[in-house]
Amino acid sequence: MKSDHYHVSGNEVELFTRAAEQRVPLMLTGPTGCGKTRLVEHMGDLLGRKVMTISCHDDLTSADLVGRFMVTGGDVAWNDGPLTRAVREGAICYMDEVVEARHDSLAVLHSLTDHRRTLYLDRAGAAVEAPDSFMLVCSYNPAYRSSLKELKPSFRQRFVTVAMDYLPPEREAEVLVAEAGVDPAVARRLVACAMSIRKADDVFHFDPPSTRVLVTAAKLVAAGASELEAAEACILAPLSNDGAITAGLREIAAASLPSARKSGQPARVSTGGT
Ligand SMILES: Nc1ncnc2c1ncn2[C@@H]1O[C@H](COP(=O)(O)OP(=O)(O)OP(=O)(O)O)[C@@H](O)[C@H]1O
Ligand SMILES: [Mg+2]
Repeated sequence: MKSDHYHVSGNEVELFTRAAEQRVPLMLTGPTGCGKTRLVEHMGDLLGRKVMTISCHDDLTSADLVGRFMVTGGDVAWNDGPLTRAVREGAICYMDEVVEARHDSLAVLHSLTDHRRTLYLDRAGAAVEAPDSFMLVCSYNPAYRSSLKELKPSFRQRFVTVAMDYLPPEREAEVLVAEAGVDPAVARRLVACAMSIRKADDVFHFDPPSTRVLVTAAKLVAAGASELEAAEACILAPLSNDGAITAGLREIAAASLPSARKSGQPARVSTGGT
């Protein structure tokens, strides 16, 4: 199995394929590290289309997306932005964390995401019609608690939306085995640890540990760290800066993971005290 293999969760591959066939844009929602980017890369391979990624942030302007006139050596020439390049190339344009972009910057997408499928380069006085293979895919994490940002309904309703989540535990463990090469038993224990922490999320209120952190923890175990040590560094530490929360979660993790390294040497795990 390829190490960048995508493990299918539900009907997301089918919906993506149908949306591509029907030339409609797709919105992926889901928590951090649940496989959104991996799915887009996988679909690029499957559909034989190039994937061009734009990471959205609140300084992103519509000119950053579509392009601008630039002075080069005394000449003024139009320079395509990444969105225009993706449209011209008929690529899959993946706009990551689209919720971070300002509404006025996203307005250029409106004509591209309805029946017109056309990008208007107002400043250049040009219009670029999207070839059939062009597809816009956006993603964001709707549960991100510190984010007060919202996408407008007029934007959201242009997309086929696929709500993603973590794989069921036994499938998530398969991802850890494939990605990190750990024993299935180790993978199952790390996933069980994450599951109990995800349940504690209701009490403690933090963004739950993702498949990404589990893969990283599994890689450390494969490299010789103890499971508890790896969980401490990769799963627990990034969750919260609040010592009380981390201490509570550490107890949960310690209950399900061995603290000995593969060699049998006990790990030195910080207990948060001095
Ligand atoms: N379904 C899956 N198949 C294979 N690997 C997966 C899957 N889900 C998660 N992973 C693993 O988790 C890692 C993170 O996944 P990915 O980068 O796709 O998350 P994401 O949803 O795009 O997160 P973010 O919102 O933070 O960008 C991958 O590199 C991979 O190791
Ligand atoms: Mg991503």
